Parts: sequence; structure tokens; C-alpha cells
Amino acid sequence: MTASIIDGKAIAAELRARVASEVARVKRDHKLLPGLAVVLVGNDPASEVYVRSKHKQTQDAGMASFEHKLPTDVSQDDLLALIGTLNRDPAVHGILVQLPLPKSIHTETIINAIDPAKDVDGLHPNNAGRLAGGFAALAPCTPLGCIILSKSVHTSLEGMNAIVIGRSNLVGRPLLQLLLNENATVTIAHSRSRDLPKLTARADLVFAAVGKPEMVRGDWIKPGATVIDVGINRLPGADGGKPRLVGDVAFHEAVKVAGAITPVPGGVGQMTVACLLVNTLRAACAIAGLPKPGV
Ligand code: GUN
Repeated sequence: MTASIIDGKAIAAELRARVASEVARVKRDHKLLPGLAVVLVGNDPASEVYVRSKHKQTQDAGMASFEHKLPTDVSQDDLLALIGTLNRDPAVHGILVQLPLPKSIHTETIINAIDPAKDVDGLHPNNAGRLAGGFAALAPCTPLGCIILSKSVHTSLEGMNAIVIGRSNLVGRPLLQLLLNENATVTIAHSRSRDLPKLTARADLVFAAVGKPEMVRGDWIKPGATVIDVGINRLPGADGGKPRLVGDVAFHEAVKVAGAITPVPGGVGQMTVACLLVNTLRAACAIAGLPKPGV
């Protein structure tokens, strides 16, 4: 058996097109131009690539994009002052502070300073708490993308056994909540979990979000299961050549056992920015008192 490959690139492109069409509608009917501000501190090359991609895709969707680049040695007070300005700016409906931040800055203080109504990363305790309580909330983008990819295979996740490997605030924990909202039965596993292969073998849906290259092996996977690989790990290329991107799942093994699987690259990574556009549009509509958009 060979798994079908879940085409994150195509699914993300379709989602971006739906966002663009809704943006055009709110502009035309309500004179509302959704705006996203991205704040980048320092010059980490990987973060710069992400921020450039966010900027381009935001503009391509017809929204306003505001980029704020600050030096690595910016003070926490100056960063807080910028967030205060963005919180008050009526042209800004979404604020994303690219993580990780330099060690001199207390990440939690920065996240807590973002207006929860503009928190398109879904990391503010108000949004995390609302999500955990089952209330309407802005949810983190990568887990939202994981749910959309899962539902491209299964129209309903109700009653399915899901395992989430990893418990980060950005992926594992919010993904657990979103899966519960879909009525899945969820196990959340982590570095201290016992017998991970056995836990994984029970799952119809496997979400790997640990940041360890190819940790999940093919013989852990239940035949026919759907595998969503959140990992993006850069490995040195053979003979000093180009670095190789691999996920948290040993794809070459799992593809022989799973029913459907996401590739790396071309899977979850593509969905994260598309979901950021969705959250920005939703935040803009909510702030303007409009009904939830059709995306
Ligand atoms: N760095 C890597 N992924 C993310 C993300 O989803 N949001 C933020 N703010 N920073 C990130």
C-alpha cells in the first residue's frame, strides 16, 4: 500500500483564493481593508524568509501589510511601545510578533501586551483560554492548518482516535483543543510519554509536532492512518551539499503504511500563512462588527 499524498500547496492556494474573494467583498460592500502588522526583531535568516512570505501573501490577498523590523538589541520597552501603537491603529486588525524573540526580551510579556482582538497568532492567554473553554477564539495558525488538511481526507473527524505528539503552546496544545471541538478522541503525547510507538499505533490520525527529524517511524503507524507532519527540520546535505528539509516523520517508511500523509516541504508549512490570512480577515470583520466571513 502507498499512501496518498496530501497536497498542502494546492489546498493552501485554494484557501488563499477564498480569502482574497472575501477580502474583495468586505472592501466593496463595507469599505473595510483588513490589515496585518508583522513585527520582526533581529535578522534570523529563517524568520526573515517567513516574514517576507507573509508580507507577499498578505498583499496578494488584497489586504494591507505593515512590516516592522527592529534591531536585535531593541529594548523591551520600545517593543512594548510599538505594540501599543499597533493596538491603537485602526488600520491594523492583526498583529504577529515573529518568534523566537531575542533572549533579552520576555516573550510572555510581549504576547500579553497584544490586544486579544488583534492576536492573529492565537497565543494571548485570553484566546488560549477561550479555545480551551470551547468558546469562539482566534486559534493558532499551524493547528488550524492541520485540521483543514485532516478534513481534506475525512469530512468528519468525529469519534476518530487522534494522537498529537508534542505539547507546545504554538501547536500541540491548541491542536488538542481544536480536535476536541471536532469530536475526535485525543491522546497528547510528549517527551515523557511511555511507549510512544504503541500509543501511535492506536491512532487513526497522527500529528507529529516535536521538532525531531524523522522521529516517528513507519512501524509506529497503523495501516491506513492519516499522518500530518508538522516538523520542518533542516539537515546538512550529503557531501556538504544543499541542506535537506525533513519532517518529524520518516516519510519514506510511513508512506508505505499510511492511508494519507503530508510531505515536507509542501504540507503543513504551506497552510500556516494561509490560515494567518484567514485569522486576519476574521479579526477585521469582528472588530468592524461584521458577521464572520465565509472562510
Ligand atoms: N515562528 C515560527 N512559527 C511561528 C508562528 O506561527 N507564529 C509566530 N509568531 N512565530 C513563529
